[in-house]
Amino acid sequence: MTKTVNTTPYTDQKPGTSGLRKKVPVFQQQNYAENFIQSIFDSLEGFEGKTLVIGGDGRFYNREVIQIAIKMAAANGFGRVLVGRGGILSTPAASHVIRKYEAFGGIVLSASHNPGGPTEDFGIKYNIGNGGPAPEKVTDAIYAHTKTIERYKIADVADINLDAEGEQEVAGMTVQVINPVSDYAELMETLFDFPAIRAHLAGGFRIVFDAMSAVTGPYAKEILENRLGAAKGSVLNFVPLPDFGGHHPDPNLVHARALYEEMMGDDAPDFGAASDGDGDRNLIIGKGIFVTPSDSLAMLAANATLAPGYAKGLAGIARSMPTSGAADRVAEKLGIGIYETPTGWKFFGNLLDAGLATICGEESAGTGSSHVREKDGLWAVLLWLNILAVRKESVIDIAREHWTTYGRNYYSRHDYEEVDSAAANGLMDALRAQLGTLPGRKLGDLTIEKADDFSYHDPVDHSVSNNQGIRILFEGGSRVVFRLSGTGTSGATLRVYIERFEPDAAKHDVDTQVALADLIEAADTLAGIKERTGRTEPTVIT
Ligand code: G1P
Ligand code: ZN
Repeated sequence: MTKTVNTTPYTDQKPGTSGLRKKVPVFQQQNYAENFIQSIFDSLEGFEGKTLVIGGDGRFYNREVIQIAIKMAAANGFGRVLVGRGGILSTPAASHVIRKYEAFGGIVLSASHNPGGPTEDFGIKYNIGNGGPAPEKVTDAIYAHTKTIERYKIADVADINLDAEGEQEVAGMTVQVINPVSDYAELMETLFDFPAIRAHLAGGFRIVFDAMSAVTGPYAKEILENRLGAAKGSVLNFVPLPDFGGHHPDPNLVHARALYEEMMGDDAPDFGAASDGDGDRNLIIGKGIFVTPSDSLAMLAANATLAPGYAKGLAGIARSMPTSGAADRVAEKLGIGIYETPTGWKFFGNLLDAGLATICGEESAGTGSSHVREKDGLWAVLLWLNILAVRKESVIDIAREHWTTYGRNYYSRHDYEEVDSAAANGLMDALRAQLGTLPGRKLGDLTIEKADDFSYHDPVDHSVSNNQGIRILFEGGSRVVFRLSGTGTSGATLRVYIERFEPDAAKHDVDTQVALADLIEAADTLAGIKERTGRTEPTVIT
């Protein structure tokens, strides 16, 4: 029932910021997915008879790869596979299921916020037993195996029925099809004050959640409408579609524009939110105010004890390096640790496991906590709702008060997508080459204090990750960071992160791009963005 198939390596299976992401036609090449999945198994030890969790965000090609992964898990010796009904598990739900059932690990099929469809993106990611993305030493081992692979093992059986919950046997292994929502919804009930949120909603607090035709639809319907009593119709675009309705399932001001416009209107609901393709990102917009993800992290951390799951206080806060320093000020006031990690959720795993951090966040709309080992879109929405239900103030009032207390970190990210790879690498190399000469240099009123290429020393396992982004730090706390994306699938994406700290509450009402104008100009002067990329403006500003 099990067969061994000869294969030859592909040279492009290096996992990026979050697993292996490629266009669907790349994944459809002969043995492409099989090679990668076998390389995952070949780099692991001791899983014989153990449980593997499998699920994905429902995008095009999800079902096909789920079938392959289950049959390969059986042939490689796993004892049990837990798979979400229909092959569905949001990324945070998959993380929770791995933890709850003490699985050996999990395979998460997703390309997150990237578009889906026959010519769009697909992805495979391996998560370890703590429920989080595999650390670099594992992804490096997987990559090494992809370069030498000669055969893979697969059960020679008919396709598995993924649409009926319950157990079935596949080549000596048990496959259990589980409800994708219930374990996750139960976990949320343990963290948040559902009765208080329910009462607040019943009292007329209006919310809207855009599931962007992606995986969070069923989760949001069940939790927000069924369990918390939000008005029917509060959850928009709740049917997950393989191509996300032709949209980019990225909850930002460009791709969730309609939600933004609604929230800025006269008759706006009190609270608007959205999540991405696989359910780990969040967008938070109050009536009349977009809350940047960096600010959201800081505000959630500052108010977290209002939710039962965090009533005992936070152990520490972790943020990725490009994320603004707003959370640092909260940590300082609370007298707890603050950790600055490279981009990518995998770097938070050790800090969470060691109990050093409780809440983590990235400027790229990712926030989460120790409840799972992934970022979690709906979790952030529910923590906001819990805080709003207790404080009974508007989002805008909470934000203003926060800035008055801590100061405001004006923050924006400018993305230049699908730039010629050589031009993008050239830009980064040229910046790197001038790092030593930058301190002391003046650009208008700005003076460079320090410039470096960020290196992370993990305080738990002492691993070192170099070249994680070029930081130009100015006197007074402003900064510009340059990085190349590790998740794009065509050309290169240059990300420029711009931040200014403003302590004076009288200056907290300035338009963000205006507040950052001199830094934006300095970024171009230093890196020659326009000249090297041929672009006059960013593709996406968030
Ligand atoms: C992007 C984000 C990063 C996030 C990752 C996965 O990675 O910037 O914060 O962890 O997606 O969602 P990048 O494309 O910048 O490498
Ligand atoms: Zn995602």
